[in-house]
Amino acid sequence: MTRRKLVVGNWKMNGSRAANAELLAGLKAAGPWVGEVAVCSPAPYLGEVALSLQGEAIHWGAQDVSAFESGAYTGEVSAAMLAEFGCHYVIVGHSERRAYHAESDQLVADKAKAVLAHRMTPIVCVGETLAEREAGQTAEVVKRQLSAVIHTLKSCISQVVVAYEPVWAIGTGKTASPEQAQEVHALLRAQLQAATEHAGDMKLLYGGSVKADNAADLFSRADIDGGLIGGASLKAVDFAAICRAAG
Ligand code: PGA
Repeated sequence: MTRRKLVVGNWKMNGSRAANAELLAGLKAAGPWVGEVAVCSPAPYLGEVALSLQGEAIHWGAQDVSAFESGAYTGEVSAAMLAEFGCHYVIVGHSERRAYHAESDQLVADKAKAVLAHRMTPIVCVGETLAEREAGQTAEVVKRQLSAVIHTLKSCISQVVVAYEPVWAIGTGKTASPEQAQEVHALLRAQLQAATEHAGDMKLLYGGSVKADNAADLFSRADIDGGLIGGASLKAVDFAAICRAAG
């Protein structure tokens, strides 16, 4: 099974109009790549990012979305609004949302459902904390997180991208070894296989301190189909090098 690799930049709460323009200009000049590339900007910049990427082979996405369709949810952005601008991907259940905004497994699943209802692709993040890894609970935690999404989406689970992001590796410079990452990816693939006959076509990304110098090794593993990149997605040369590693 050859799955086309996917590298997604998660800018988190970084950037400015000027910095984004510089980053996108650098990326456009550095492509095209063999794999698929996408960037997820903060919500206020999405329209401008979309305009800048018109006609380019770089997709764009959002970092979060409301689980609700519309109405009295002050501060929220709906899936319909993102779709109206041509949004391709929406990250849901990032560990920072789970930790700082108390997002439950079920809320994450509901968000993924809202994204699919508007024909966009959710990037569903799962991952264990350091304490959970040390307590030997990695498999249990990631399976529980993915299971909520499988139960909610049923056969539509085949339309999501899953990102395994061990919390202890995010922004810490401590990458999971390719072996550690592949081990969890294989578990997730097996869980998906029990839920859909299309599991072999699904993309499973690794995230957590991916850099230009460790990307190729990670992406060469059997069940690692690319990466979700935080810090290293903010500089065009660094991100472009990671995108090349997915070639
Ligand atoms: P990092 O973040 O690459 O800065 O570790 C990854 C992520 O949180 O998606």
